[in-house]
Amino acid sequence: MAVMCGIVGYVGEKRAQDVVIEGLRRLEYRGYDSAGIALVATGTIASDKRAGKLANLEKAIADRPLPPATVGIGHTRWATHGAPNDVNAHPHSGAQRRVALVHNGIIENFAELRVGIEADDVALLSETDTEVAAQLLEAEVLTGADLTTAMLRLVNRLEGAFTLVAVDALDPSRVVAARRNSPLVVGIGDGENFLGSDVAAFIEHTREAMELSQDQVVTITRSGVSVRNFDGSSAEGRRYHVDWDLSAAEKDGHDWFMRKEIHEQPRAVADSLLGRRTPEGRLHLDEMRLSDQELRDVDKVIIIACGTSFYAGMVAKYAIEHWTRVPVEVELASEFRYRDPILDYSTLVVAISQSGETADTLQAIRHARTQRSKVLAICNTNGSTIPRESDAVIYTHAGPEIGVASTKGFLTQLVACYLLALYLAQVKGTRYGDEIDEVMRQLEAMPDHIATVLASADAIYAMAAEHVDTRSVLFLGRHAGYPVALEGALKLKELAYIHAEGFAAGELKHGPIALVESGLPVLCVVPPAGRDQLRDKMVSGIQEVRARGARTICLVEDGDDAITPYADTVIRLPKVPVLLQPLVAVVPLQLFACELATRMGHDVDQPRNLAKSVTVE
Ligand code: M6R
Repeated sequence: MAVMCGIVGYVGEKRAQDVVIEGLRRLEYRGYDSAGIALVATGTIASDKRAGKLANLEKAIADRPLPPATVGIGHTRWATHGAPNDVNAHPHSGAQRRVALVHNGIIENFAELRVGIEADDVALLSETDTEVAAQLLEAEVLTGADLTTAMLRLVNRLEGAFTLVAVDALDPSRVVAARRNSPLVVGIGDGENFLGSDVAAFIEHTREAMELSQDQVVTITRSGVSVRNFDGSSAEGRRYHVDWDLSAAEKDGHDWFMRKEIHEQPRAVADSLLGRRTPEGRLHLDEMRLSDQELRDVDKVIIIACGTSFYAGMVAKYAIEHWTRVPVEVELASEFRYRDPILDYSTLVVAISQSGETADTLQAIRHARTQRSKVLAICNTNGSTIPRESDAVIYTHAGPEIGVASTKGFLTQLVACYLLALYLAQVKGTRYGDEIDEVMRQLEAMPDHIATVLASADAIYAMAAEHVDTRSVLFLGRHAGYPVALEGALKLKELAYIHAEGFAAGELKHGPIALVESGLPVLCVVPPAGRDQLRDKMVSGIQEVRARGARTICLVEDGDDAITPYADTVIRLPKVPVLLQPLVAVVPLQLFACELATRMGHDVDQPRNLAKSVTVE
């Protein structure tokens, strides 16, 4: 089984091996436990697959070249069940090697199907559910069915979630794929067509894409794309133009995608604010799709998300409650439906997801919709499942985020949350137009402020260099700075693999202060001085940890010198309102984690045990 993977398919005139390997390279962030390729070459399947990163497969192919071919499929895997070894790697074939198949998802009834296959004396080589599907597909093809018909028959026998992509050794004209609850998009070329888990797989070749619905089989040939529903009826996919190009998927001179993405944040924030106001100055959200009346009826907002997106949701709570007076709950998507949440038609559920494919978030959305709640998605990925299954969407315009650690995804989610809060305030009339204008002006100034923070990256890098032997770091924040502290700690955990925890500064004295010992680095996100009560309470927290030997690193607004006596290191932040401060305060924490992990010798873009899109619950 392989649940969070990158999948590529190609049919055209080019060397399929190059197209597939290049596609896998761009999808490797989705999983990097093993990789494999299968080509249709003069009546046979030529394939190779290797445990470990894509580089291992590339080396194997360089040592033992595959024959020329113009049709192929590929896979990069994040294993859940079955060790990430050569045998379990994809593609898998039937016993006669007539078909090759790659798979993302879990086939839940595979044990029962496996028993049936083994009863026919067919020996299975791997521990995977994928090989079972390959055997069944081959059996259908051997009856004389074409690959599309065989795939339609196969999917009707499978339970669970899956994207399957297959080729037939005797049919070099097509690649066939199926999708149920797992991502797949089509790339439309000229004399060639592509399949990918996301558009990065083929962005080098085409920016025209087609999204598929659930339970569909798609056949690509050199000259066309045809879509069928699982019941065999014909269907149409929705075509769209991808608004970013190859350069966005390159490192552009940086050592890591993550570092590049951190530095892209001023532009990403500016892009996410573009086109949000009418000439009359009113806020306008393109794919809002919920009527003003529906929004006026909203009496509770529940935000669901995971990881970094969850922290964006925590910031959103402060903004929405402050500007609209509507109560907001923020909940981990993985917990949401299991506590039987109280929902009805007047609850607005906001799902935040950079990838648009996170399974926990998707299942939470589905639950909310069964309870008649309206769902609004905040998402960075056009064509992904979460916006498609939501009633409305605010797209962020971060461009592709390839580093596994979210950075520009987070900042643009914050922007979308502020826009949503202001839009609700506009519709409900809880803020005057000039107040909304003022916040929009403050938001529009944020790209410059973020650029200012980035300009002092070298000072943060120097600080990171001093911490390579650190085994534990605490982060403190209050109000909107609390989620920033949590995000700073998450970045450090996932990249540097060191113990890091974020706390609400006020909670410290209720237990966590016992962790403080001599020399412990404590990063403190200090609220703007204008919020004097908040800021003063934070100063007390800083004094408390310092008195116990902590080394305090304080992120402080420019011009606020009240903290200096208690700070071992001061990092200056531009002067911005407290609600917007996360947009600047998180940036030094991203730079710190990226640099520290680099100096510790870790792979920053592909941290151990993680994958970019978590498509399993
Ligand atoms: O694609 P999503 O926003 O739904 O992903 C949610 C989390 O998996 C994600 O934010 C994760 O926590 C990142 N690795 C954090 O850097």
